[in-house]
Amino acid sequence: MLETLISETELEAKVSEMARLIKDRYRDEPILLVCVLKGSLYFFSDLSRKLGLNVQIDFIQASSYGSGKSSSGVVQIRKDLDVNIEGLNVIIVEDIVDTGITLNHLRELLSTRRPKTLAVAALLSKTESRKIASPVEFIGFEIPNEFVVGYGLDYAESYRNLPYIAILREG
Ligand code: IMP
Ligand code: MG
Repeated sequence: MLETLISETELEAKVSEMARLIKDRYRDEPILLVCVLKGSLYFFSDLSRKLGLNVQIDFIQASSYGSGKSSSGVVQIRKDLDVNIEGLNVIIVEDIVDTGITLNHLRELLSTRRPKTLAVAALLSKTESRKIASPVEFIGFEIPNEFVVGYGLDYAESYRNLPYIAILREG
């Protein structure tokens, strides 16, 4: 059963607001936006198109989840960046920060490559379920500790293309 948590209209407004904050912070400095596949696909695509032309994009894929609802706690890099990020302003674009394990791993990995600056933009944050405190510079929505799908987020690879965010309940 799907219960709407964040509508398309609310998503659109929030992504615009986040883009404004990012533009204010970086002014005319070039940015490399890193899409964390697959969950941040729609957020990344909407956010990137609201930023100016000083933006380059690249993709990384990590996995810490199995096919179910809970994290395995082991982070694997399935696809690495193509670009050398040394000296660049890098923003990691994440769908959701849950335990913080994935994000922490990505931050540590990318910071070893000596970017000029490194920040994170996450659409959703389940602050209650955090196990590792990893900084998130731009947060869209704080959400309760419920399993959500849509706007890129999946349950066993389904529901990603739902245009809004919903709580997935059993039965
Ligand atoms: P973390 O490492 O526990 O912070 O989990 C990060 C990843 O787990 C996210 O990038 C998502 O892919 C996935 N995830 C965490 N919570 C949810 C959820 O409620 N719905 C769908 N995927 C989730
Ligand atoms: Mg997932």
